[in-house]
Amino acid sequence: MTIPDIIIAVDGHSSTGKSTFAKLASKEFNLLYLDSGAMYRGVTLAAMELGLIGPEGELDLDGIRTLLETLDLKFVSTPEGSRTFIGDRCVESEIRTLAVSNNVSPVSAIGFVRAWVDERLRAMSRGGRVIMDGRDIGTTVFPNAELKIFMTAEARIRAQRRFDEMVSKGENPVFEDVLKNIEERDYIDSHREVSPLRRADDAYVMDNSDMTLHEETVWLRGLVQGKFGILE
Ligand code: DC
Repeated sequence: MTIPDIIIAVDGHSSTGKSTFAKLASKEFNLLYLDSGAMYRGVTLAAMELGLIGPEGELDLDGIRTLLETLDLKFVSTPEGSRTFIGDRCVESEIRTLAVSNNVSPVSAIGFVRAWVDERLRAMSRGGRVIMDGRDIGTTVFPNAELKIFMTAEARIRAQRRFDEMVSKGENPVFEDVLKNIEERDYIDSHREVSPLRRADDAYVMDNSDMTLHEETVWLRGLVQGKFGILE
């Protein structure tokens, strides 16, 4: 299906499968896929490695501000797809560990971190034809995005998905820890002062608790056809 040069914003709760959905849509509609959460995860990993986040989650704000002055965090296109790099080091798997997941929400609640990430996301999206997933894409980063989708699902179902994903990567998670992490992140993400997670008024809601990936793509195709008057 050929669609116009638009920006599609995909927001929603953690582990709703936003990135899987957005990646599929990027292939289907020939759009550039950008994972905004990977930017927050990259900043968090870099801060952890420099000891700027304490064992109880204490943040060294001055240290993080200085880190951002030189942090070379980017997406690199590789034969396996787009990957997150710090300098010439691929950090794609490290940014997905539970240790990073446990620290990323407080880091992403820092106003100057958000401004730093937003600037980069907008620069990478110049020219349109982008699908980006995150928490505030349709509300803050691209309030004028032509299509906005808000994804959600029950917390236990999301925890089970993240749990299965971690097991498949050889990690040894405890289900209750994963669930707790999801619930805590939901809370922090939707209660922070700067750009809290919320559905944009003009976003279409998808609750995929009981949906297969195939059903999600059928849903999206129908939405895009209806919205842009595309006949197949
Ligand atoms: O989508 P994810 O789980 O990889 O996101 C990681 C964290 O980054 C999540 O806890 C919330 C934060 N985030 C955000 O605040 N704003 C975004 N646009 C994307 C992610």
